Amino acid sequence: MRYLMCRPTHFAVEYAINPWMDPTAPVDPALAVAQWEALRQVYLDLGHTVEEIEPIAGLPDMVFAANGATVIDGTALAVQFRDPQRADEAPAYRSWLERAGFQVREPKHVNEGEGDLLLVGDLILAGTGFRTAHAEHAHVQEVFGRPVITLQLVDPRFYHLDTALCVLDERTIAYLPEAFSPGSRAVLRRLFPDAILATAADAEVLGLNAVSDGRHVVLPAQATGLAAALRERGYTPIGVDLSELRKAGGGPKCCTLVLREREATK
Ligand code: ARG
Repeated sequence: MRYLMCRPTHFAVEYAINPWMDPTAPVDPALAVAQWEALRQVYLDLGHTVEEIEPIAGLPDMVFAANGATVIDGTALAVQFRDPQRADEAPAYRSWLERAGFQVREPKHVNEGEGDLLLVGDLILAGTGFRTAHAEHAHVQEVFGRPVITLQLVDPRFYHLDTALCVLDERTIAYLPEAFSPGSRAVLRRLFPDAILATAADAEVLGLNAVSDGRHVVLPAQATGLAAALRERGYTPIGVDLSELRKAGGGPKCCTLVLREREATK
């Protein structure tokens, strides 16, 4: 796998745009960097490639690279943040992706990248309700030419799809049912009858904010119930501690943008 990450050099909790963020609670910046470096090392030890984008002072949430774009088949759909505090991250990620040779497309509405857009097999699961606009889902389908499945998020703690649902491989997901509207829950049951259903305890430590390469699943170490469920299904869970970044509402997946190249035509 090829990932893009952003070192949390300028990480802080200076504003509150989700319920996890409390600007009055202390953050340990050195610990945040150390925890991030440990995550990066896990990817390197698994044999993955990690690219880095230069962090920018004054953009404390830039560490959450998953929100920087959605990259499928060598095409990068750039982002448009809901909140003005994160707006300047969008052009930074866009120019990195251009320089790296990806074909970059512009969003039409609020679009927070892989935070809300998750590829599973040939489908794109698309969250809405808090950040990415429902209208953008149709645009995502046009850009990537893949069916987009709209999922309605209903719990403000799980404001991005990647906090409530994790893609494990081409056919399998794990998710927290309560984070979705009744209709979206029914859609998920239909599409993924064999999904792992996470518990509230696992979701509350951002356990679903995990990164899978199809076999190894890198997830918050505190999500012990989910780790056991994964092991039972034959995956290898790898726990990492990102407690400092969780104070901004982020976990391993938020820190990780998947760079999917164009596949050679078969
Ligand atoms: N503080 C950031 C925000 O609220 C956290 C983003 C987490 N990223 C994610 N992919 N869920 O926007």
